[in-house]
Amino acid sequence: MRTPGFSQLPTAIMSLFKNSKFRAFLLLTVAFAAGCGEVEDTRPGQPVKHRQMAFKEMIKSFEPMGVMLRKDRYDADKFAALAADLVSKREAPWSYFGPDTNYPPTKAKPEVWSKTAEFEQAKKDFLAATDELQAAAQSKDKSRVAAPYQKVYDACQSCHRTFRER
Ligand code: HEC
Repeated sequence: MRTPGFSQLPTAIMSLFKNSKFRAFLLLTVAFAAGCGEVEDTRPGQPVKHRQMAFKEMIKSFEPMGVMLRKDRYDADKFAALAADLVSKREAPWSYFGPDTNYPPTKAKPEVWSKTAEFEQAKKDFLAATDELQAAAQSKDKSRVAAPYQKVYDACQSCHRTFRER
């Protein structure tokens, strides 16, 4: 069998495109490449990946509380459950910030490792703010939750300003 000459090449490509399995494969490849522009954490134990996942878990509990407040959809029981969820997740990221864990794909700034006392303090402020939020949420009193919610928000932001790339 002859390999296709130049003139036959477009036809060969077209018939490949008409093959729906190949089309699906191509779409998947493109989607995969678009979604995976980031570097994989290939180190043992994947500390960067684990702390990033731990932060993402925290935001899953935190964000819906903000939505409830902003859209005036306060549900006292749900809010209290979310605050408790946040408290249960708040310890997860920190043990993954070990020495020598400043490498791609991290978004942490070198300050995490050079200003350790400040980083500790930012973490303590955050933990204290989540205590306050949980206590307010347990009161099931809407007028009491907005301020401590804001305080937790500010604690997240304040740490990110110094210790995380935008
Ligand atoms: C004491 C510091 C500190 C506090 C407090 C903190 N963060 Fe972060 N956060 C970081 C650092 C540092 C990173 C970057 C981690 C990395 O990429 O290695 C980060 C990353 C994240 C990410 C991105 C994860 C990813 O996949 O890239 C999210 C989302 C996030 N934090 C949400 C929050 C929320 C929500 C709060 C508060 C409820 C919070 N953080 C509190 C320091 C903090």
